[in-house]
Amino acid sequence: MAFNIGLLGLGTVGTSTAEILLDTAGRNSLLKEINIKQVGVNSLDKPRKVEFPEGVMTTDLEEIVKDPEIDIVVELLGGLEPARSLILQAIANGKHIVTANKAVIARHGDEIYTAANKAGVYVLLEAAVGGGIPIIKPLKQSLGVNRIKRVVGIVNGTTNYILTEMSANGADFDDVLAEAQKLGYAEADPTADVDGWDAADKIAILAAIAFGDRIKREDISCEGIRKINATDISYADKLGFVIKLLAISQQSQPDSLEVRVHPTLVPKEHPLANINDVYNAILVEGEPLGQVMFFGPGAGGGATASAVVSDILNIAGILKSSGKTHKLDPLLGCSHQHYAALTPIKDIETRFYVRFLCKDVPGVIGYLGTCFGNHQVSLESVVQIGFQGELAEIVVVTHDVPEGNFRQALGEIKHLDAIDSIPSVIRVL
Ligand code: HSE
Repeated sequence: MAFNIGLLGLGTVGTSTAEILLDTAGRNSLLKEINIKQVGVNSLDKPRKVEFPEGVMTTDLEEIVKDPEIDIVVELLGGLEPARSLILQAIANGKHIVTANKAVIARHGDEIYTAANKAGVYVLLEAAVGGGIPIIKPLKQSLGVNRIKRVVGIVNGTTNYILTEMSANGADFDDVLAEAQKLGYAEADPTADVDGWDAADKIAILAAIAFGDRIKREDISCEGIRKINATDISYADKLGFVIKLLAISQQSQPDSLEVRVHPTLVPKEHPLANINDVYNAILVEGEPLGQVMFFGPGAGGGATASAVVSDILNIAGILKSSGKTHKLDPLLGCSHQHYAALTPIKDIETRFYVRFLCKDVPGVIGYLGTCFGNHQVSLESVVQIGFQGELAEIVVVTHDVPEGNFRQALGEIKHLDAIDSIPSVIRVL
């Protein structure tokens, strides 16, 4: 039995995917039965690392999703359109989908999976989260019996590289970003990475799988790393923390789910504190399992293509064993019907690190304590770190408090005569 695939996109991941499919020696023997029938690209004139027989490459992507001989469409275009429309057309034409596109699944997963279930086809997306790290299938299958309590991860390599460099060299955000762009680690337009959108797409997907309900992507509270600076990294270090961009989802109340992305002070002894450079890691906590951590390369052509081609193999395996009349395996598909209620950010309980610049007058620490106390914000530590010119620099770390209370207290504090400014507020894990 031979399987035909249509590849949409021949960028970094598309090229590595083709390379694996064309170099099958020593890999799973089923790969020999998989044939790249067509490759959809924007331009036929661009130089490519892989060569295909005449007629395989085309700029007509719609032709691929309609081709009756193609069994699996592999979408590696990225972005929302035309990816969404092409996926939906391919599904309507009875094709299985393999995609690495977290943005399209996080935002249009409802429409895509509803169509896929109706058409009886799979949409597999192992490559969409954590690049080469197996996390989607383990969550659906190997950990499927657990009551998941928490999924917390470093799921964006670009920001992890930037934060790691800032920590190691005391450098500022803009300088490290410029260097990362020069080295090709960060995109020319780094918005989706540095503002946390890419991580929010990924945690939307992980939370839906882990907790069994759809997640409204636009309701995820999302804060990126642009405001993180060398001063806070250095103070965090002195207090026993590193700063990481975490994507967090947890069931803190029985009927609502916390899903959020933000820079976070992580205790140095926490397993995620030591994940550096472009690496990703996802910590899953469940009952009865306890904790398990998935670690590895979260991006890059070869790593991501490893997940893409393994998804292709999965589908080929199913088609080979049960033919075109297969029934969808519920442990590989997605049958969520409802949207999870997300906990509003004001009700989320967390610790905070906050840095104040204050006039050096008697009683200022007392004023801060009183204002926080008025809003039931209990403090873990208050440290006067030093001076910036005439202004005293005070760092406060709170106990777990509802964010709404904390923000009300800050609103009051910023009007105190003794307070010059509040340069940083960062949540603490
Ligand atoms: N831009 C992503 C990152 C890789 O930096 O992790 C693709 O998901």
